[in-house]
Amino acid sequence: MELLDALKTRRSIRRFKTDPVPETAIKELIEAARLAPSGSNLQPTRFVVIKSDAARAQLTEASPLPFVSQAPVVIACCVDMESFGGMGTRARELKEAGAFNDTPLEKMDPDAYAKRKPMDPAAAEGYLRLNAAIAVDHLTLRAVDLGLGTCWIMMFDQEKVKKILDLSENYRVVALIPVGYPDQSPKPRPRIDLEQLILKEV
Ligand SMILES: Cc1cc2nc3c(=O)[nH]c(=O)nc-3n(C[C@H](O)[C@H](O)[C@H](O)COP(=O)(O)O)c2cc1C
Repeated sequence: MELLDALKTRRSIRRFKTDPVPETAIKELIEAARLAPSGSNLQPTRFVVIKSDAARAQLTEASPLPFVSQAPVVIACCVDMESFGGMGTRARELKEAGAFNDTPLEKMDPDAYAKRKPMDPAAAEGYLRLNAAIAVDHLTLRAVDLGLGTCWIMMFDQEKVKKILDLSENYRVVALIPVGYPDQSPKPRPRIDLEQLILKEV
């Protein structure tokens, strides 16, 4: 499928068929997320694939939206708050891969880069969530390509979801993504005009 077609046909799907989602398709979704860019190539996003009836039933206590747990699969998208600890390694990998060749970054010292002043915790979490959003967007567009429907869900109780999924303290759940074959064909949702998006040309 052409990227433009996927961009145009993706919808938030809130009604799913009960047909199971093949394991290979789930792997394809996560693979699409894996290819996403991330700041300093930190790759802080992690996923929990929720398939069992028991776990999905528990999710009904963590989100007010019943369609979430009605989907045959729910992917919990998380970030690892400890990802910044890998900054030196990631920077070194990038350098070794030639990412900075012939640029002013070529002389960058990965260890010194990793020792820069850390962001304050709120900014750090925002930064990691931003990275997760890009990964989720990759995933949702690949889903369209595979004939699957998804919906971003941020209406959930963070602590309840973490408890259900038995996630350690260093993880934040960014979104729940129900995944399944769509049982609805929604029309395009309204968008503001292009002219309104462009503040100005300078
Ligand atoms: C960051 C984000 C959070 C969202 N959270 C929810 C949510 O909690 N519940 C829900 O039903 N839809 C949620 N959505 C879906 C939006 O309502 C939807 O993207 C928007 O209405 C446009 O519709 P479309 O995705 O079909 O184009 C969310 C979307 C985004 C990008």
